[in-house]
Order: sequence, then C-alpha cells, then structure tokens
Amino acid sequence: MRFPERVTICEVGTRDGFQIEPDFIPTERKIEVVDLLSEAGVPRIEVTSFVHPKAVPQLRDAEQVMAHIRRRPGTLYAALVPNDKGASRAVDAGVDRIHTVVSASESHNLANVNMTIDESLAKLEAVMTIAERARVPVGCGISTSFGCPFEGDVPLAQLERVVGRLVGMGARAIGLADTTGMANPRQVGRVLDHLMPRFPGIEWTLHTHDTRAMAIPNILAAIERGVTNFDASIGGLGGCPFAPGASGNVCSEDLVHCLSAMDVATGIDLDRLLATSRRVQDIVGRTLPGQIVKAGVWSRRYPLPDGVAARLPGPRA
Ligand code: COA
Ligand code: ZN
Repeated sequence: MRFPERVTICEVGTRDGFQIEPDFIPTERKIEVVDLLSEAGVPRIEVTSFVHPKAVPQLRDAEQVMAHIRRRPGTLYAALVPNDKGASRAVDAGVDRIHTVVSASESHNLANVNMTIDESLAKLEAVMTIAERARVPVGCGISTSFGCPFEGDVPLAQLERVVGRLVGMGARAIGLADTTGMANPRQVGRVLDHLMPRFPGIEWTLHTHDTRAMAIPNILAAIERGVTNFDASIGGLGGCPFAPGASGNVCSEDLVHCLSAMDVATGIDLDRLLATSRRVQDIVGRTLPGQIVKAGVWSRRYPLPDGVAARLPGPRA
C-alpha cells in the first residue's frame, strides 16, 4: 500500500455529532468546542448546519455559534445546508465553505429533507448560485452512498447519476457518505474505482460512520485509491436523526493517531485533540467511543512488574 504524505481531516463533531445529542448543548459550550478544535490545528471544521430548527432543534443556534467562534487563520469554517434558504443563512453568517446534502436513495432523502432526489437537486442548484455569488466554495455530500437503512443496497448507477448531476451543476468537491456504517473496504474500493476515472478533477471526501467497526478500514481503502479528504468526529460522536441505527462517525483522535503512527501528517496536534475529546465527554456527560482516549497512544509504556527488571538478560556481547 502507498501512503500520502498528508491527508486533510474535516471535523464534523459539532454538526454530525451534536445534531443527534438529546439534551440541548448550551451555545457557549458549542463555541468552546469549535475553538478547542481550532487551537488543535484542525484544518476544516463543519461547525453547524443551517436547517429547519424543528428538524434539528439542537442546532437552532447556528447563527450565534458562527458569530462567536474565534477564527484561526488556516482553519476553514464550514456549515451543512440542505437548500437555498440554508445557503443564504450560511453566507450571511460568514461561513468559509458550504457543505450540501442529498441522499443517493429516495427514501432516505425524503426522510431526511422531505424532498425527492430531483427536488433536492433543484434546491442545490439554487445553493450553487448563492454560493458562487458570495464566492464561497461548495462541497457536495451524498448520504447513503454505500447503502440505505430503508432500501439496503444502493445501486452504483444511482449513485453515479447523483454525482453526475452535481458535477453538471458545477460541483468540484464531492463527499461520499456512509450514513449508517454499511460500507466495507472492498465496496469502497469498487465504488471509487468506478467513479474516480469517470469524474476527473473532483476532490473526493469519504464521510464514514463506525457503526459496524469498518470506518478506518474503509478510510484505508480510500487512501489506497488516492483519496486524501476525510470527515471525522471528535470522540466518535455522530449520527443522522433521520436514519434508524445511525451511530458515531469515525473518531477524529483515533484516526489522527492511526495516521500519525503511519507517518501520514494531518497538521493536527494529537495531545490537544485528546484533551478536546475529554472535554466533549464532560459536556455530553458520557463516555464516547474513541479508543485512544482510553488506551493512550501506541508508544505508551508501563512500568515493569516486580522482579522482571532484575531478570532481564543484558545485551549480548
Ligand atoms: N433553515 C430554516 N428554515 C427553513 C429552511 C432552512 N434551511 N428551509 C426551509 N425553511 C423554512 C421555510 O422558510 C418555511 O418557513 P415558513 O413556513 O415560515 O414559510 C418552512 O421551513 C417550510 O419550508 P419547506 O421548504 O417546505 O421545508 P420542509 O418543511 O419541507 O423542510 C428542510 C425541508 C430541508 C428544511 C427540513 O427537512 C430540514 O431542515 N431537514 C434537515 C435534515 C438534517 O439536518 N438532517 C441531518 C443532516 S444530514
Ligand atoms: Zn454523517
């Protein structure tokens, strides 16, 4: 396997993560987490979403959060939007980047955004116009790219059609999202081998959920195909409120740890990220799925048990 020198991680914990938290997280706590992530050197943060406050009450404070975060030069602050209304709100709030959402499966798209795929794509065309006028770059995410919790298998031709429509309306960055952790590494490879040569020049992102413990293997399969953009969530928070069985994204600090152990740079300070994860656990009031917070980094050493040191053979002459 060949490894890139560097990958770009987009932190989605304050959006994909917080959106599914049952208790309202005070606005100041959300701002604090975004600021801690910035200070850890995270290059992209999907801060929040500009959706209907009744659909996702947890993120009803999107404007306030955007207005009060401390912006670090070198970090791009993005937000998720489902339609033109969301795009206008996001532009007014001063986002650096807009992330859009449409599903590859009709049933999830209806459950998530109350539109058919074609209705969504029409709204996203309006989003592209708003973003272009405001000179804000857009990344287009496609939910249920590798499987749908209602329909099961999502035919590759259907995914390709949605990608084609987005590229046709000017998308240059496409995110393939495994919304409920159905993808496996072989499938990720097959999908990328199919799409990448058909849509040259696209910046691909893989958005994973670790629902079935396949997120990092899936990321490795995508790295092997040359993908270098990945979404991840602090502590492994995350899940779509409109996809039954959804659970957390790949855990940011576990992914950064894995990459750094393989000498792949992310520009993120792992110690600060781990401290942020502990803080997020305090805020949400429970232990999160991340492993490195519990285990420590791979190079952690323990004291020798009694009597072992004295019996260690010396170096051979
Ligand atoms: N932000 C705030 N309000 C919005 C909005 C947005 N992005 N989009 C639409 N609205 C308002 C409209 O202005 C309208 O208000 P009015 O009744 O006062 O005139 C009302 O919502 C209904 O508009 P409509 O276009 O019919 O929306 P809808 O009720 O069909 O809902 C979505 C569609 C997309 C707005 C809603 O399903 C949604 O926000 N989904 C978010 C899903 C999500 O975040 N999933 C997890 C992430 S993948
Ligand atoms: Zn997600």
